[in-house]
Amino acid sequence: MLPIIQPVFGPEEEAAVLAVLRSGWVAQGPHVAEFERKVALRAGAKYAVAVTSATTGLHLALVAAGIGPGDEVIVPSLSFIASTNAVWMVGANPVFADVDEELPILTPETVAAVWTQKTRAVLAVHQLGIPCERDVLRAMCEERGARLIEDAACALGSLADGRPVTEGADLAVFSFHPRKVLTMGEGGAVTTDNADFAERLKRLRNHGMTVAADARHGNAVREGFAEPAWNYRLTDIQGAIGSVQMDRLDAILAERQRIWQGYRARLHAALPEIRLLTPQPHVQWNVQTGCVRIPDGKRDSVLKALNDGGIGARRGILAAHLEPAWAHWPRTQLPNSEAWAHDSLALPVFHGMTGAQQDEVVHALALALGYLETV
Ligand SMILES: Cc1ncc(COP(=O)(O)O)c(C=O)c1O
Repeated sequence: MLPIIQPVFGPEEEAAVLAVLRSGWVAQGPHVAEFERKVALRAGAKYAVAVTSATTGLHLALVAAGIGPGDEVIVPSLSFIASTNAVWMVGANPVFADVDEELPILTPETVAAVWTQKTRAVLAVHQLGIPCERDVLRAMCEERGARLIEDAACALGSLADGRPVTEGADLAVFSFHPRKVLTMGEGGAVTTDNADFAERLKRLRNHGMTVAADARHGNAVREGFAEPAWNYRLTDIQGAIGSVQMDRLDAILAERQRIWQGYRARLHAALPEIRLLTPQPHVQWNVQTGCVRIPDGKRDSVLKALNDGGIGARRGILAAHLEPAWAHWPRTQLPNSEAWAHDSLALPVFHGMTGAQQDEVVHALALALGYLETV
């Protein structure tokens, strides 16, 4: 099976894990701190707080933003379901906004269309690494007294006007799940420029404890518990892998771009009716997912044909309101989200993918769409 994506691990990650195991300190510690410094730098943020996943990071970001029961949070239905579930985790009400026709992201207009007196936050997703119009959304939230939380789960390494898409964010959240550009199995991070948020996020991931775990063990400082909270700590084993992975980020991004350009050239020549996800001109995209759109209601049959032929394609982006978990939830019409949910397809983009393997994918697409005869 050609994988949809594959982690890029080498002897450096192996050595890093071994060093942590031999050090005797495997819980959150110095390697997590080093990883956080690297994430903050690449996110364009002053602080990064590592957590167990983007889902738990979104949870803490919403708590830090003061969102709770009765509040409304505007969120795209068109996203991995964790974006909506995170709103539910704090007892708030998700309000689904539609996305752009050509890009899988919220727009200031779709957000404004569902804004109410109860709106306390907008959870904007930089979907598949494609950035939202963050400046307009930030200004809009500020003007109306709401918080902007950026779900950048997919967006590590994406740039807008040459700057990280999350630069200067109040609260942005990254994922390090293996479907993302780099990984340590599971992991997430919340980035912020706000020192108070950073302090609180550190407490919230650690039972509300007022003293960091390493300080507590190192200096026998007595810990206190400032507020009820969770255990969302990353281990130092994960931190060490993540730290090495961050050093690989540029190489990984270049490789993903190479593969995507390979698809562009092949699909443009052979199957021009397949639309490729095309970021805005000022964006340097991280190619988190090789997303295309399959016309004429054929996405599901094409996906099945690819999977049957050993090609690990997946459906592109889901829409929460089309899943049983959220189908009952009140909402307005979401035509663009539904179009994306029905026609988007994710193609394999994995490190080291060869031209011949890309030819195989394009050939299988042509067959599935009825352009070639099977022999
Ligand atoms: C947009 C978005 N938000 C949140 C998540 C959740 O990430 P994690 O698996 O790290 O919890 C994902 C994962 O796919 C995602 O794509």
